[in-house]
Amino acid sequence: MLSIKPLPYELTDLEPVISQMTLSFHHGKHYVGYVNKANELLPKEWEHHDIQDIIRLARDGNNMPVFNQVAQVWNHEFFFDGLSLNEFDKEISGALLDLIRADFHDVDSLKSELLKTALARFGSGWVWLVLENGRLKIYSTSNAETPCGLRGVKPLWTLDVWEHAYYLDYQNRRIDYATQVVEKAINWRFISANLDA
Ligand code: FE2
Repeated sequence: MLSIKPLPYELTDLEPVISQMTLSFHHGKHYVGYVNKANELLPKEWEHHDIQDIIRLARDGNNMPVFNQVAQVWNHEFFFDGLSLNEFDKEISGALLDLIRADFHDVDSLKSELLKTALARFGSGWVWLVLENGRLKIYSTSNAETPCGLRGVKPLWTLDVWEHAYYLDYQNRRIDYATQVVEKAINWRFISANLDA
């Protein structure tokens, strides 16, 4: 069974980039809804597996109803963990900085690639920064699709571009939401930790 993971910060901690109201709906209603629905649909024999195993089993078995709910649980936990407004989480150094320089030239270019990808995603989905074959890559996935559990791919960070992630604060202006998050709320320490893991 999957359990509800609390946010790693207070509901007001991402303001003004993401409001308390948005975060309370996003975590308390949307994310919790995915956890509950996933548990409802989870086959008995998968109940004791961890979430990454369940995603793999559902993907391999083409069990899309379970895959969609469980992947959304994982994607949301990863998304929430990757946000911070703390100065402490802003340092970009070491291996991460080397990779950014090698693959994107500089941090600003990486940020603009994230924004371009967020804008280009048609409909609901996710923007990903991943490590693949030793290189940093940015791409987007549709609906619940996730790089979690894909061989040779290490997810480092994600941006939720479903409308529920921004509509209360930014209405239809996805680019304003994405710009605010990418400029101010990326937890770079989280990215470095994922790189090292
Ligand atoms: Fe979401």
